[in-house]
Amino acid sequence: MPNKAWELGFHLRSPRGWLNDPNGSCQFNGEYYVYYQYNDAWPKIDQKAWGLFVSRDLVHWRYEGMPIEPSIPEDRHGVYSGCTVVERGAGDDGADLLRAFYTGNVVCLDAGHNPKDVGRVYTGREAHEITCTSTDGIHFGTKTVLLRTQDYPDECSLHVRDPKVWRQDDSWYMLLGARHLRNHGMCLLYRSDDGLSWEFAHRIDSAYPFGYMWECPNIVQLDDGSEYLAFSPQGLPRMRDRWHNLCQAGYIPLPGRIVDTTVVDERDFVEWDHGHDFYAPQTFVDDQGRWILIGWLGGFDPHWACAPDGLAWCHCLTVPRLLRKDPASGHLLQTPVPELVALRGKKVTLVRGATAGISTRHADIVLEDIAGDGSITIDESLQVFFERQRLGIRYLVPQQAAGRDDRSIPLDSLRDLRILVDGSAVEVYANDGAQVFSSRWFPAEGTSLTIRTDLNVRVAQAWPMEDVLGNLYATAQAPSISQPGWNA
Ligand code: FRU
Repeated sequence: MPNKAWELGFHLRSPRGWLNDPNGSCQFNGEYYVYYQYNDAWPKIDQKAWGLFVSRDLVHWRYEGMPIEPSIPEDRHGVYSGCTVVERGAGDDGADLLRAFYTGNVVCLDAGHNPKDVGRVYTGREAHEITCTSTDGIHFGTKTVLLRTQDYPDECSLHVRDPKVWRQDDSWYMLLGARHLRNHGMCLLYRSDDGLSWEFAHRIDSAYPFGYMWECPNIVQLDDGSEYLAFSPQGLPRMRDRWHNLCQAGYIPLPGRIVDTTVVDERDFVEWDHGHDFYAPQTFVDDQGRWILIGWLGGFDPHWACAPDGLAWCHCLTVPRLLRKDPASGHLLQTPVPELVALRGKKVTLVRGATAGISTRHADIVLEDIAGDGSITIDESLQVFFERQRLGIRYLVPQQAAGRDDRSIPLDSLRDLRILVDGSAVEVYANDGAQVFSSRWFPAEGTSLTIRTDLNVRVAQAWPMEDVLGNLYATAQAPSISQPGWNA
């Protein structure tokens, strides 16, 4: 039986069934909209739609069903990943309009498909870029097909998807993730005057092949002019300290602007997260001008179970993370949005060598001014450690890892840690978010947590976190879709 201790209190998951990539995250009419890849019929069939959560404050959410489902021939086997653009004043009476862009997935296994073409790279699929608009973010109008499989450059395989669209200098731009016929990943850049009629501008390649496919391209453009190209490459070989998951997610800091970039240096690729369960993140700018990232706290890795013991839901999203530039490295720091602090209950002070108790399964832990090696252990089961200049997480009770290995990365010194524990989801932020690990664990039954600190620190505190989503999951009715579908 699934264990209640695995339930999430402040991480978004689907009411039931499967969740993967966040899609179209934005702030629209003052509220935060987080769409996501949703298959409520999992594990019986694989048919993706966009599910939706909406929030005023990035902390309390309401579930709004599945606003975009397969409904036209061009998206009949899945409404795949994409983005939204808020069009200011473009609606009736000057209201804002939300425009969604996504890939319509079609599988054609009948005429002309070679069954040896595993993954339908050259035969057996179509990918169409589609747009539709909404005045409330929930009800979308007519779907318009913008680009069809035959419109992409000749050197593209059939894997082209995940539009990221934005407006800049009076133009609209669209990035697509793609797989070259010669089996390497790349991005395609398109330009448009109106967001509807698109012209191919150029490819963005790596100097040397870097994985066979780049999924979910994304951008970060900071006020100081720094630009970053983010994407999720598939097929990178596992190295000692890098690329330990089946697929990776990261970004490349650019010397110039994305729209002028044709080649990136793959040696500059920075992984967003070193945990077992992180992929396909998306970024957006909110009304305060903050760059926020939300990732899929999950992955396709067959090594680790994500829904053991008949759990009726699979995967969740990370908490929203604020992105800032680290002036020293030029890399992006990720920290949980400050709004999350609102969920903290009564503070517990942690004492080195002692075990403290937290009254729920949801906790926020902060350690500041750390000196030297040591560890912090949750429930005598999950350990975050810094030893001989390696920072990592370790599962002390193997079955609670559900197949996950211990993980660590080289790190010169550890200054601070922030650990979010939420049922079966854990996010570890180190050195002001310069290094992050997101992983799942499947602890034993229980309604409280223990925390044992064995680190020399100036400040060590923990808070129980309010469970703001449990009720929502209990009451949300997932609508069901009936057509058979297919895998990415
Ligand atoms: C990434 C991905 C995307 C695709 C979607 C389908 O996780 O494979 O490339 O659009 O998932 O659910």
